Amino acid sequence: MKIVVQICVLFALCAVAFSWSSTWGVRNATDVLLFSKNVFQPAIANKVQIVYFDIPETLESNNSVITAIYLQDQFKNSSGPSNNLYYGGPGWTYASIQMRTYTSIGLNVTFVVYGKQRSYL
Ligand SMILES: *[C@@H]1O[C@H](CO)[C@@H](O)[C@H](O)[C@H]1NC(C)=O
Ligand SMILES: *[C@@H]1O[C@H](CO)[C@@H](O)[C@H](O)[C@H]1NC(C)=O
Ligand SMILES: *[C@@H]1O[C@H](CO)[C@@H](O)[C@H](O)[C@H]1NC(C)=O
Ligand SMILES: *[C@@H]1O[C@H](CO)[C@@H](O)[C@H](O)[C@H]1NC(C)=O
Repeated sequence: MKIVVQICVLFALCAVAFSWSSTWGVRNATDVLLFSKNVFQPAIANKVQIVYFDIPETLESNNSVITAIYLQDQFKNSSGPSNNLYYGGPGWTYASIQMRTYTSIGLNVTFVVYGKQRSYL
């Protein structure tokens, strides 16, 4: 019984430890890497910061539809931001992601965005 509880706690900890990296969509083998970008926001004392990362529609000029967005937290110490897909995303040519930092902690995340050439659709 005790072991079961410990395993549960372990799983819970793991779930928490990785929840600051987020993924939207599923990457298909035919998808191409559209871009990868690091976003850094310095900490502001006693402040929660809301940061938006926009993937502009101009990607459309490259005929790509987003299929997957990977957000990788670079802090890796459980103080990365909590993330929400604000609009767009997989299936669209644009997206906006809202990141909410912890109080007094900035953020350092890497976005990796995959897409599909329109001719595959
Ligand atoms: C990946 O894309 C190809 C071409 O659009 C499609 O035929 C295939 O079903 C897709 N696979 C998955 C797992 O979505
Ligand atoms: C479109 O693709 C070209 C070549 O891969 C690249 O240099 C350019 O930055 C891309 N444009 C956009 C808006 O992503
Ligand atoms: C963000 O994290 C990466 C990977 O840990 C690191 O190489 C980079 O220097 C960091 N960027 C800033 C501005 O601290
Ligand atoms: C996690 O790491 C970042 C960058 O090194 C730092 O700014 C932040 O204070 C750390 N968070 C905690 C809880 O130690």
